[in-house]
Amino acid sequence: MMNIADEIKGRCNIVDVIGRLVPLKKAGAHYKGLCPFHNEKTPSFTVSEEKQRFICYGCGAAGDVISFVQRTQNLSFLEAAEKLAEEYGIEWNRGAFDTESKRSAYYEINREAATFFYRAFRSARNPALSYMAGRGLDDAVLKKFGVGYADGEWDSLYRHFTDKGVDEKLLLELGLVSSSKGRCYDKYRNRVMFPIINTRGKVVGFGGRVLDDALPKYLNSSDSRIFKKKDNLYALHVTRQEIAKEDCAILCEGYMDVISLYRHGVRNVTASLGTALTAEQAAMLKRYTENAVLAYDSDQAGRAAAERGMDILRDAGCKVRVLRMTGAKDPDEYVKAYGREAFLELAARAPSLTEYKLAAAREHCDLSTTDGSLAFLKRAAAVLRDLSPVEADVYIRKLADEAHVSEGAIRREVWGADGARASAPVRAPSAVRRRADGGDESAGGTMLERIFIRLMLLSGAYIDRIKPYEKAFSTPSAFKIYSALTALCADDGEVDMRKLEDALDGPDRALLFDIREKVQLADKDEAVFAECVKTLRLSALTDREREIVRMLTVANDEENKERVDTLTRELIGIQREIKEVKGR
Ligand code: CTP
Ligand code: MN
Repeated sequence: MMNIADEIKGRCNIVDVIGRLVPLKKAGAHYKGLCPFHNEKTPSFTVSEEKQRFICYGCGAAGDVISFVQRTQNLSFLEAAEKLAEEYGIEWNRGAFDTESKRSAYYEINREAATFFYRAFRSARNPALSYMAGRGLDDAVLKKFGVGYADGEWDSLYRHFTDKGVDEKLLLELGLVSSSKGRCYDKYRNRVMFPIINTRGKVVGFGGRVLDDALPKYLNSSDSRIFKKKDNLYALHVTRQEIAKEDCAILCEGYMDVISLYRHGVRNVTASLGTALTAEQAAMLKRYTENAVLAYDSDQAGRAAAERGMDILRDAGCKVRVLRMTGAKDPDEYVKAYGREAFLELAARAPSLTEYKLAAAREHCDLSTTDGSLAFLKRAAAVLRDLSPVEADVYIRKLADEAHVSEGAIRREVWGADGARASAPVRAPSAVRRRADGGDESAGGTMLERIFIRLMLLSGAYIDRIKPYEKAFSTPSAFKIYSALTALCADDGEVDMRKLEDALDGPDRALLFDIREKVQLADKDEAVFAECVKTLRLSALTDREREIVRMLTVANDEENKERVDTLTRELIGIQREIKEVKGR
């Protein structure tokens, strides 16, 4: 039996697929073009129509049509294969994969069920509509999320489908109906219905809420052929664009939190639906953004769930912040009581994972006693051990102040006696690299700022050369020194050191002295400058790369081929540039 990969390779011509992105020219038995995977001026990228493979003699990249799509569009093997199969109309009903087409009967039934509930919700005077109106939701937002109503009858949905000749076996498999003593009845009765829709726009499941205080409050689809609870984040089909655009997702617990926040204009939201957040959900979120704000319920259960969730998000490579509310049980209540601005303010001020954990470590420790300080220090050290030395450094300085202990003592607590090395003064240019890896800023300026200032002190010529990168001065003191240097630089490029010192006061002047004393360039100033510029360019390029990948993810979901192609071309260009800059 032929497997799907072979079938795809047999049916879509690699020359066409690659040719859409890379201009190819026939050269003998092969096609040639400029390699999309590295930067070159003469073509060494070769596509063989006969073998249906590509190879680049410049950088060694090689593969088949599926791996080409994988690499250029940042997809998994399955995603790339599925995409090509869809584009080329290849029936995917062989082999081990459960395909979209195979699942389409289930999707259709779910869509029909969603429509059925939606119509009931829109019909005159039903209790679900007044319930939702009572919770402050308007028509537009209810429509947006496809909210529906399951009436109080035992079998309206069941009859709706069987009248159409739909096999009840499918309804049972999807969990739309249940059976008892050989009789089928509707699973959802007298409930507000929330369809769960995946990022491809398919209805994969439902959640149904009671209209009063009855229990269970929610009934959800159980896992089926088309629905795995652990793989879904609620409402991502509506909100993922906003999430990608804001480069941040607010992650809640429930349906109502998402809808209510959305209604109040907070649109970069999604929910893990009551379950503990899974690694799959975290990975899914990360396709749209690396920044997550956990906004779980303020009760004990919500806090516990948030604490598990933050580690899962961190392990998936996300930067996590944790929002805590007072005066409301959950985001829905909060935004209704205090409004959009107040909620956004909370989100903006939400502490990072580390800050959150340090605050938790501080609880019940009396820092005015030695025992209390030591207990706190032990717990804090356990938190900081997870960080890189550069990241940990900022917190160590704060902790030293707070607990009245020396920085060295904290470092020993965190990394043991050897770890004290982490505090050794760092030298350029390797220091520049560490900073670029995401180290935090300190009152003493970033490593990059310190080096730039050192260079400008060394020679006025650097003042002009650094000007294009003045955005790199982000800490206030460093920016003040930079501004003073620019203002004082005479036409001949000389800076009067006396005047410079006079122009600065307090911490700014202290920073200047600190830089003069500690930042040594050892006659390598040109190399160090080049390294700094390279770091800055790389970080701008990788920012852009990440942004394009996020947009590409959305475009792929939307099956917007034109946009996928445009973005892919841009991505290839950026990745080339990154290689080029790195190679220097
Ligand atoms: N949940 C569930 N089953 C329950 C209770 C909760 O599946 N019996 C899930 C639902 O996805 C729910 C989420 O957990 O949205 C959060 O629960 P909860 O905070 O109790 O519900 P809310 O979404 O806040 O709903 P409401 O405001 O209507 O009470
Ligand atoms: Mn709620």
